[in-house]
Amino acid sequence: MKFFVDTAEIKEIEALAATGLLDGVTTNPSLVAKSGRKFMDVLKDICAVVKGPVSAEVTATDHKAMLAEGRKLAKVADNITVKVPLTPDGLKTCKVLSSEGTMVNVTLCFSAAQAILAAKAGASFISPFVGRLDDVGSDGMALIADICTIYRQYESFKTEVLVASIRGPMHVVAAAKLGAHVSTMPPSVLWQMFKHPLTENGLAAFLADWKKTGQSILD
Ligand code: G3P
Repeated sequence: MKFFVDTAEIKEIEALAATGLLDGVTTNPSLVAKSGRKFMDVLKDICAVVKGPVSAEVTATDHKAMLAEGRKLAKVADNITVKVPLTPDGLKTCKVLSSEGTMVNVTLCFSAAQAILAAKAGASFISPFVGRLDDVGSDGMALIADICTIYRQYESFKTEVLVASIRGPMHVVAAAKLGAHVSTMPPSVLWQMFKHPLTENGLAAFLADWKKTGQSILD
């Protein structure tokens, strides 16, 4: 499973990239607004740090303007993945950009029917929002199971399932059990995945015992 981080904060991205475990980045208009920075500057900074896919979302809603925005975003770096919403205009734009060799991430997916449309439109990634479905009393992970099952039926579907709107490590674990290709998560969730109290307690005990020996491995 690939790990993407869902943020526009360059310091957070740099810290996670340094772990060697970060495969890509996703942003959205809300995250860019939160950063308080210019979108193009944010994208250039991220692409200088991360070589994997970096999602940049269009903000136009009609096909012609979406296409113009998508083409401009794609010029920022080779690893830019243009993000379009799951609307008829968004999928029309997906089809054109994909045929031009640009990676496209279709976002705001809340049903298996929508995911089928995105695959037919040649999306590189489909982003079902599990947390937002859970928030309204639906089962976000059941949607991931459905999409993974459907995509496996058709060799012609090359779209990767990018599990989005992740709220905690157990969403990542559940998505991995289903064979989803990618999880995108807030930086705090990725850091949380490292943690277990038994790891911390065990390490403290090992280090205390080692100190008693008076040895150093590098001496
Ligand atoms: O970027 C798309 C998605 O991950 C947003 O998540 O937490 O705003 O529901 P959230």
